[in-house]
Amino acid sequence: MAFSRAEAYAPASVANLGVGFDILGMALEGMGDRAIVEFQDSPEIVITDIQGDGGKLPRDPGLNVASVSARALLDQVGEKRGLKMKLIKGLPLASGLGSSAASAVVAVVALNKLLDEPFARQDLLPFCLEGEALVSGYHADNVAPSLLGGIILVAGITVDAIQFLPIPDELHLALATPAVQVPTNGAREILPKQISLKTMIHQSGAVAQLVDALHRGDLKALGAAMEKDKVIEPARAFLMPMLDEVRARAKQAGAISVFIGGAGPTLCAVCDRQSVAEATVSAMKSVYSEVGMRCDARSVRVDRRGAIVLDAR
Ligand code: HSE
Repeated sequence: MAFSRAEAYAPASVANLGVGFDILGMALEGMGDRAIVEFQDSPEIVITDIQGDGGKLPRDPGLNVASVSARALLDQVGEKRGLKMKLIKGLPLASGLGSSAASAVVAVVALNKLLDEPFARQDLLPFCLEGEALVSGYHADNVAPSLLGGIILVAGITVDAIQFLPIPDELHLALATPAVQVPTNGAREILPKQISLKTMIHQSGAVAQLVDALHRGDLKALGAAMEKDKVIEPARAFLMPMLDEVRARAKQAGAISVFIGGAGPTLCAVCDRQSVAEATVSAMKSVYSEVGMRCDARSVRVDRRGAIVLDAR
């Protein structure tokens, strides 16, 4: 069936889950980006409008993750027409919620629909990665969950490296996003270039414990494994305002553990029920309000469906 206009939605995601740098990610319900794409006869992609970014994202189609991802897909299928693209950002930029990944994913999913779905959903991963790479290099720990939903192990950047992990029924998250931006590129540059063998053993042990905990549905073990990171969090902690205080107060409110969402500054608390997640949201919020810092906080669950087509005609 031929379509001339398609609209899609892609959810937020948090990468790393503490100790799984660049290889673990989780999609989140209730927050995401939308894109509307339409064919046009001329071959270029025109970004007609971006809403919700405060004017900060590039309108140049060669520099915007959504249009770069869409271009990769257009070129792959040999489509000669170009696109008009509108992007509606529901996700804050540089917040650790996978904003750039959601923009890449939503554009590709909408375009795939417009093209009458030449690719199965997971095979769209390489096109999404082209856009994400523009801002933070090739890592699929946001793109894969935003595209496919769930909690995902991506032991590489190819489709065959994707492994869906079990989602514990009781898993609830409390998120707090303070009003500071942490661009992913900068947060990657400050990471150590080498680690010792001893540290490597510690990190890989912790990742294994995390994956095992998900398979057993053991939230306490999951939370403990998430907090074992000795490489990434220590290097980035100074970029996260109030990290220690937020962690302490979240735990007082009943949360099991707190990890940095992707490159931050969003902090994510693992909770075992809704009431605890809500109490944790209030506790995290109060830490920031006491120091006069704005913060968005909410309780969320894992998104299981990933990106979806909202409309095609
Ligand atoms: N794994 C990436 C990082 C995710 O931590 O740099 C960025 O959202």
